[in-house]
This record gives sequence, structure tokens and C-alpha cells, in this order.
Amino acid sequence: MYFSAIRLQHFRNYEALELTPLRGTTVLYGANGSGKTNLLEAMHLLSVGRSHRTAVDREMISEGKSVAFVHGQTQRLDGRHELEVRLYPLVKPQKRVLLFGKPAERITDMMGHATTVMFGPEDLRIVRDGPAARRRFIDMQLSQIRPSYLKALKRYLSALESRNALLKAQRCGTDGDVDAQLDAWDEQLAGAAVFVVEPRRWFLTELAQNAAAQYAAIAENPGETFEMRYVGHLATTETPYRQMLEGLKRTRNEDKQRMYTTYGPHRDDLALLLCGKELRAYGSQGQLRTAVLSMKLGEIALIENEMGETPTLLLDDVFSELDARRRNALLQSAQGVQTFLTCTDKADAAGAKADAYYRVTVRDGFAVLQQE
Ligand SMILES: Nc1ncnc2c1ncn2[C@@H]1O[C@H](COP(=O)(O)OP(=O)(O)OP(=O)(O)O)[C@@H](O)[C@H]1O
Ligand SMILES: [Mg+2]
Repeated sequence: MYFSAIRLQHFRNYEALELTPLRGTTVLYGANGSGKTNLLEAMHLLSVGRSHRTAVDREMISEGKSVAFVHGQTQRLDGRHELEVRLYPLVKPQKRVLLFGKPAERITDMMGHATTVMFGPEDLRIVRDGPAARRRFIDMQLSQIRPSYLKALKRYLSALESRNALLKAQRCGTDGDVDAQLDAWDEQLAGAAVFVVEPRRWFLTELAQNAAAQYAAIAENPGETFEMRYVGHLATTETPYRQMLEGLKRTRNEDKQRMYTTYGPHRDDLALLLCGKELRAYGSQGQLRTAVLSMKLGEIALIENEMGETPTLLLDDVFSELDARRRNALLQSAQGVQTFLTCTDKADAAGAKADAYYRVTVRDGFAVLQQE
């Protein structure tokens, strides 16, 4: 797939932008703070319904404005798709989605119209940060490939919230048969957990294979192996429903004490191993970068295999950081893939074989794109 049109209004430092990108590689270059990442963020928002750098949607609305529009047109194998996200700072709902010009019933309906793979400096957090960063990575990528996954995840998280609320209420001495109510929530939660764990297991098995192959090709050192392993209470069981029910039962007293649910896929993690040792502690800076690059390249291959579509690749500030071998691996994987690449100097993108160059500048406080 590729973006054939992008329109922004009152989005970050864009007052208004209309862009008809090419199918190939587009370079966005300009000074720090000019608005390059903002444009990639808009495409990311269209693909997964949220920013890659903030959980607060309001931050994306231009200061002092009452609504931001992000409109995109994509060409997919089945034809042209049209989608729009509107963000409101003050009125509810604060995020609205239009598909083909009509309001979508749920935000999750927007998945599957635009597919992106973003690779930026903050991706190193997948390795460095705690398990939540890795779960976010899994959830965002998997939702794009399997839109039904996001619905399943929401169902699970909503049951989890209710169970946690009950655990809090019982600590505060609310009457009623708490155990009977917990029994009911345990069943709901276990039922929902199955539809979270199975797709995660599938996704991570596939991605691990692709990423390991990419890493091996880049590192060119047979002794240096990169492994990704799914870690979690239900990561390997053949009977996730039963195991979840048993786990919840086993931890119920502890949960009552702590007032939250300690067992289940909301505690999942991803082990990243270099030569069998923990990458975060053992790997060098360059090895960490290569591992993340391998995961991204593996993801492109996975999307292509699974969906029969290429994603749009959003490369924020990373191209100039890579050495020749890593650049080549990236360009190889990006063949035939619509790519947006940001850098501060046009010369940094030399070798990217770009089809279009845009200079991003700030005029009267707003970002302006000039094609060169
Ligand atoms: N809600 C907003 N309203 C108006 N301007 C905003 C808003 N949010 C961010 N900005 C502005 O957008 C600019 C940052 O844009 P962006 O992150 O795209 O820069 P960049 O070109 O990627 O820079 P760098 O090369 O440093 O990464 C900043 O000048 C910031 O003040
Ligand atoms: Mg930037």
C-alpha cells in the first residue's frame, strides 16, 4: 500500500498542508524543530490511531485551535481507501474517525486502511525500557496486521479493569459475595486472554524468525545470534483458558491484598537475547541498534507475507546513523516500499535513491514544505 494523498490542518506546527506523495522514496530535510517528525507522526496516527511519541492526543492539536484534521488517502490492493482523524481538545469524544467520509462506529475500525512501520530514535526504548514498552510495540504492530487483535485486547483490558475495581472495592469493605463476583470475572478474563495470547504467540514466532535472519545477514558473524522470545504466564501453554483460570484462582488471595490482578497477559514481556544473553545488559550500542533495525526489517517482511501488501516505511532520523552495511540492508528491505525519510541535511540522504526531496522550513511559525 502507499499514501497517495495527505492533508493536515491545525496539526502540530502545520496550519495547512496538502501533499501528494510518490510511491517511492521521499526525503524530508530541514532544521531541528521544523516539522519533519510531525508529518511522520500524522501518518502514524492514520495507521494505528495514535501518536508514536505521545499518549496525549491533545498535544497534536496546534496551540490555540479547537480541532485538528489529519486526512489520508491510501492505495491498497483492493483499491483506494480514505480516512480522516479529527482531534478535539475540549469536546467529547476527543478523537473521531471518518472512513470514506463517514463517521466510524469505533476508533478500532480505522485499523487496516493505512499500514506503517516507523523506525526512529525512540525505538531503542523497546530494548532499554521496561516490559510495558515491549508490550506497546507488540500491540501496535500486531493490531495493524490483525485488526481483530485490537478488539480482543480492548475486551481483555476492560475485563481486567472491572476485576481490579472489584478487588479495590472489597478492600474498602463493600458488602456482597466478592468471591462469587470474582469467579465470574475470572471466567470473562480467561476467555478474553485466549484471544490476546494466541495472536501474540503467532506474531512473535514469525517476527523472531524474520528478525534473527535479518540480524544474521547484517552482523555477518555466525557466532552472533539474535533471539526474541515471548515471556509470560500463558506464553507456552497448550491450554491458555484453563491455565489462566487456575492462575487467577491461585493468586486470588494475593490479588485481594494488592488490589490488582497479578496474573495474565497484561504482564507479558519479550526477551531479547544476544548470543543467549540479555541484549540490554550485554549488547553494545551498535548491537542494540542492529537488533532494533532487524526487528523493523522483520516486520516489513511479516506484513508483506501476511497481508500481501507493503507497508509505508517511516524513517525518522535513523538513516544517517547507520553504517554502509546496515543502510544496504535497509534499502534492500525497502525495495518497492513507499518510504519517508527525515534528516537535517539533504546530503545525509545521499544513497537513499530518493524520488522526491522536500525542504521543511518554518514561516510565520508554521511548517512549510517546498519540493526541490
Ligand atoms: N501542538 C503544537 N502546536 C504548534 N506547534 C507544535 C505543537 N507541537 C509541537 N509543535 C512544534 O513543532 C516543532 C517540532 O516539530 P518536529 O518534531 O516535527 O521537528 P523536526 O523537524 O522533526 O526536528 P528534529 O530535526 O529536531 O527532529 C517544534 O517547533 C514544536 O514547537
Ligand atoms: Mg524529528
